[in-house]
Amino acid sequence: MREHQTLKPFDFSDATAVVLGGATGLGRAMAEGLAAHGATVCIVSRSADKATAAADAIGSQCGGRCWPCAADVASEASIGRLRDTLRERFAGRVNIAINSAGINTRNPVEQIALEEWESIQRVNVTGAFLFAKAMFPLLKHAGWGRLINITSIFASRSFPGRTSYASSKGALLQLTKTLAIEWAEQGITANAISPGPFLTDMTRPVLDNEEAYRRFCEHVPMKRFAEPSELITACLFLASRASTFVTGAEIVVDGGWLVT
Ligand SMILES: NC(=O)c1ccc[n+]([C@@H]2O[C@H](COP(=O)([O-])OP(=O)(O)OC[C@H]3O[C@@H](n4cnc5c(N)ncnc54)[C@H](OP(=O)(O)O)[C@@H]3O)[C@@H](O)[C@H]2O)c1
Repeated sequence: MREHQTLKPFDFSDATAVVLGGATGLGRAMAEGLAAHGATVCIVSRSADKATAAADAIGSQCGGRCWPCAADVASEASIGRLRDTLRERFAGRVNIAINSAGINTRNPVEQIALEEWESIQRVNVTGAFLFAKAMFPLLKHAGWGRLINITSIFASRSFPGRTSYASSKGALLQLTKTLAIEWAEQGITANAISPGPFLTDMTRPVLDNEEAYRRFCEHVPMKRFAEPSELITACLFLASRASTFVTGAEIVVDGGWLVT
């Protein structure tokens, strides 16, 4: 077994995975990467139609077995139903749970209504807690489990106008590190991937404004935004059965931004 793990670290053919936010952007890229390496992947979106379209496309393009599920991470009841569906479908075992769900707003603090603040924390922090809590028994039962939270460079850097988002991502990083300690002796690792700027719907307000894009790129030594596919290898590394001793880590994929 150990030899297999070392020689074929990216063989996911006996692994089950769930990707929250898997129908779009970075979540979709990670779902594609896992499916292409043999994993059975549950693609989760709030929209059943979006989840189905993504699962069908990934299944036919990347191989692997993909199936859709609708869930809203802001709702404990909805995440409970996702857990029950996964338990039934995967015989109680989930090896890889990825939380790529997230929302973002940009406003100076004096213009942030309490409702706006709370909606960001509800999805980005409370949702991550609900998802981790719901996945715990399935990850534990699987024998080896991997929780991956998609945090952000904004967990440690910030800009004016990002109070809600940056605070939520800082909290998510600490949530991840705490779970790593709590689960360390139970065969479950918990790690974070902190992306810099990627070309997805979330960064649309910057991408649609040439001047804003140019100014943003000045922060990035590589002077560009990344393609979603450039996140896949970090995900495969943390998701791998072979990454047994990596927990509480943050892999930064940011074109060098954090070292500036
Ligand atoms: N793009 C970047 O530059 C960048 C940089 C750093 C961090 N990130 C983080 O990366 C993650 C993915 O973002 P992205 O860039 O790929 O943008 P995206 O395409 O907008 O993805 C966000 C995902 O979050 C899901 N989501 C939002 N609210 C949800 C809820 N209540 N319940 C369940 N799912 C929900 C959406 O799913 P549905 O709409 O299908 O329901 C969507 O798939 C986010 O956590 C984001 O903060 C992105």
